[in-house]
Amino acid sequence: MVQVFRLAYVHFGTPDMAQMLKYYQDVIGLSVIEQDESRAYVSTSIDHHNIMLSKANESGLIGFGLQLMPNISCEEAAETLHRNGIEATIKMNEVSGIRELVEFVDLDGYVVHLFFAMEVAAPGFQTAGVRPNKVGHLSLRVKDAKRSVEYYKQFGFSNTDWIEDFFGFMTCNRDHHVLNFATSDYKAMHHLAFELRDYSHLVSAMDHLGRNEIPILWGPSRHGAGHNIATYHRDPDGNMIELFTDADVFVPELGIFEPRPWHEHFPQRPRVWGTDECITRWGTSFEQSLV
Ligand SMILES: [Fe+2]
Repeated sequence: MVQVFRLAYVHFGTPDMAQMLKYYQDVIGLSVIEQDESRAYVSTSIDHHNIMLSKANESGLIGFGLQLMPNISCEEAAETLHRNGIEATIKMNEVSGIRELVEFVDLDGYVVHLFFAMEVAAPGFQTAGVRPNKVGHLSLRVKDAKRSVEYYKQFGFSNTDWIEDFFGFMTCNRDHHVLNFATSDYKAMHHLAFELRDYSHLVSAMDHLGRNEIPILWGPSRHGAGHNIATYHRDPDGNMIELFTDADVFVPELGIFEPRPWHEHFPQRPRVWGTDECITRWGTSFEQSLV
């Protein structure tokens, strides 16, 4: 098993590097670790990067990086992928801050990096901006969510919840979801989510978006699957960004989520949700649908 334990970074292409960097630096409050004309590396606090931006003709998600468990080398990961019929290449110094990684293209064409170690840049947290704890999860539009959920199980992900049969949630650690997959007619990121510390942090983050004249598209409200309190807006390239707090904590040893007063079931186990009951638990009406 090629077991991973976290989503380390997300890689966007952008035609306007300066505008995107301004947003991730000044609005989200991340630190630029390295930058040249073609690529920039941005960190939430300790990693060399959690967002990678590459100059491109079109904006949007290129791929993402998953960190391997400490006992798995890139060579072992590549061999296992080959045995599973996946074409994978070991690349040296392809990405700054990571000496060696395994690259493959998944079922839908997203470029995935698996790596063992990343340089610690440790800029700490900025003094202004949203300043999230971390990149929380990445949601992808795929041809067939059921097929993607099965595919990513080979990397140690387990399925935590479903919305009907078209939106699958997966984790490789104790977060309710790290990746999720939405069946869609087209390939694109659905959204990228940053984890905030608490409700007051979420409110001050929205005040900060307001000051920067970035409209909130949806929320805040509490979701069903994951029970996170979430709000959504777009970055300058139009990528949908979620800010959330209070997401469920998965206990894989028990196959349940840590109990919370707002849960519907005790214990709360992975389940299939109806769309309407899952989108908001507060009955809030929103002009914009998320699915
Ligand atoms: Fe989300």
